[in-house]
Amino acid sequence: MDKHFQSLSQDLSSLAGKNFLSCADINFGQVTSLLQLSSQFKKNLRRIDLGNRVLGLVFSKASTRTRVSFQVAMARLGAQTIDLNSQLTQLGRGEPIKDTARVLSRYCDALAIRTFGNEELLEYAKWSSVPVVNALTDIEHPCQALADFLTIQEEFETLQGLSLSYIGDGNNVANSLILLGSILGVNIRLACPKGFEPNHSVVENARILASSNSRIEIFSDPYEAVLDSNVIYTDVWASMGQEKEQLQRLEAFRGFTLSIDLLKKADSKAIVLHCLPAHRGEEITDQVFESKSSRIFDQAENRLHTQQALLAALLGGL
Ligand code: CP
Ligand code: NVA
Repeated sequence: MDKHFQSLSQDLSSLAGKNFLSCADINFGQVTSLLQLSSQFKKNLRRIDLGNRVLGLVFSKASTRTRVSFQVAMARLGAQTIDLNSQLTQLGRGEPIKDTARVLSRYCDALAIRTFGNEELLEYAKWSSVPVVNALTDIEHPCQALADFLTIQEEFETLQGLSLSYIGDGNNVANSLILLGSILGVNIRLACPKGFEPNHSVVENARILASSNSRIEIFSDPYEAVLDSNVIYTDVWASMGQEKEQLQRLEAFRGFTLSIDLLKKADSKAIVLHCLPAHRGEEITDQVFESKSSRIFDQAENRLHTQQALLAALLGGL
């Protein structure tokens, strides 16, 4: 067997049966192999059939991209999904996660959980006997980060040594970018208003996991953070569950809008990413969103290809 193909398949088969709760759960070899398999799926160069396996989608928050990309990814793998949420199940009537997780594990081959507190995700992982995937919690959005780095790799071919500047709220999306970027050797430069910096322990952990030459820097001035950067990323200022803070956040984030003025300070070939949904006129102007630097819809498409690769690996299809 070709050496390169051998290490790709070793990396991917090492993920079989595992959870994907955090970007910190995967190492450099596993991420690069997942990105490679994602590209193969995207170019229709690879087919994997998971038979009639079933992924349970346990979502307590709204979702367009994550839900649909998981559904389509499983369909393309010859497998299926079941859409579950607390209104449809006994979870809404107080059945504990530890019972729900053990029951769902008897029916489903994997569970994708979208919820608020990260401790709920960990509780599913503790009691489930099948792989659990983090489909977004208040702490991380690791599936999003896989798609983000595939999009960046497609643009620049290599990831190591690039700089990604994240402007805005140090939220779940920022945390996953910090972790996965550090593992991949991408420098991460954040600009967040005071009090909205990313999770301290995530940053500490990312520094431990970082490739020796990659750095994480936190600025208070967005103009400083984007200087000569290759990728400019932003996300909403009030995440799901923070709707009541919307007005207060509008005030706190004044000056952090990703505008053409700000984009001009980045490298002339810089690309713009946003995980979506976007609030035009708040964290990003319509002009930047629709600009030729934007790769936002390629990024959204890549959710499908990266999740197809992830599911194929976790469900032991390789
Ligand atoms: N980016 C993302 O996760 O979008 P959804 O909330 O629509 O799934
Ligand atoms: N930070 C956002 C991401 C949505 C995909 C949220 O949690 O609402």
